[in-house]
Amino acid sequence: MEHIINALPLPCGKRTIGSEKALQSIHEQNGTLHIKLQFPYPAQHLAPELRQTAEQALQRPVELLISHQILTRKVQAGINTINGIKNIIAVASGKGGVGKSTTAANLAAALARMGAKVGILDADLYGPSQPTMLGLTGKKPEQRNGKFIPVQSAEGIRVMSIGFLIEPEQAVVWRGPMVSQALQQLLFQSDWDDIDYLFVDLPPGTGDIQLTLSQKMPITGAVIVTTPQDIALIDARKAIDMFQKVNIPVLGILENMSVHICSQCGHQEALFGSGGGNRLSESVNVPLLGKLPLSLPIREAMDNGNTAALHRQHTEIMRLYRDAAFRIAQTLSEQGKDYSNKFPKIIKG
Ligand SMILES: Nc1ncnc2c1ncn2[C@@H]1O[C@H](COP(=O)(O)OP(=O)(O)O)[C@@H](O)[C@H]1O
Ligand SMILES: [Mg+2]
Repeated sequence: MEHIINALPLPCGKRTIGSEKALQSIHEQNGTLHIKLQFPYPAQHLAPELRQTAEQALQRPVELLISHQILTRKVQAGINTINGIKNIIAVASGKGGVGKSTTAANLAAALARMGAKVGILDADLYGPSQPTMLGLTGKKPEQRNGKFIPVQSAEGIRVMSIGFLIEPEQAVVWRGPMVSQALQQLLFQSDWDDIDYLFVDLPPGTGDIQLTLSQKMPITGAVIVTTPQDIALIDARKAIDMFQKVNIPVLGILENMSVHICSQCGHQEALFGSGGGNRLSESVNVPLLGKLPLSLPIREAMDNGNTAALHRQHTEIMRLYRDAAFRIAQTLSEQGKDYSNKFPKIIKG
């Protein structure tokens, strides 16, 4: 029986229960099989489909009990991971205005709803938008023992943003080194509480600030957001090159504003061109995680700070973000485990 269960395919991709080493126990009660599964990523949403597959294969009623245990994966060589944060995912785009912050907020919301402990570090000093997008404008992080305590959103996302601390006009006059210094402080001097996935919403571009941050922050993987426009794709490619240079795996590309869906008649139009994300994905050999439409409900939800309502009311959009977030979590789980914190540090005298 164990081998039948291990051979059961997961609803997407080539994975099986066996490939994920998910099977923990099987026990039979009144003709029903109770199967306990533990995945290295949140997988509760697979339950209905997986249960059907299992019942067909095993020819009897099945109850699945799905849990997850998310481990810390390794980061760039020579950098230690941070206590309280298991995995950092950088969200980057070469170009501004392509929906990087929107994507980071919605991926975080999706993983939070899947049961993961999620955080966002809003590192876009020149345009911090996470406080607005996550409904936290006017909030201030408290301090304890000289550390900031990230502000918690309605969905349980822990958020730190430079937007909580300074007026937007203040940052504009800061020079590059000051900016990367301030952002590192936000990361290293906050009291993160056992976060599985921390999304870092990086400032747009591939200049000194981005490069410094990718060398100083322990980043497990990066996600690139782009529109299908050539001008955005060229910059997205630069961002991919930058991460590859500093040995941060690029987990995937998300195409945003792919088609415009008219909220009156449902007509679809590729305002920014089509197929760009696919072409980029093929040429750099990085998977395309999804294509998000340019849609009024997304824009409104971000302005109102209500990703929860967006995902509840628009299931097709919820699914796109959820599937992308799930693939990111799955891809991370394939990376080597981190041991940087397990060994005492060698201090050279
Ligand atoms: N898929 C989308 N549909 C509609 N509006 C979007 C979409 N993605 C982003 N937006 C809107 O576009 C603007 C820019 O997005 P934002 O996430 O702030 O971009 P970036 O962080 O890359 O500068 C925001 O007002 C946002 O609400
Ligand atoms: Mg932004």
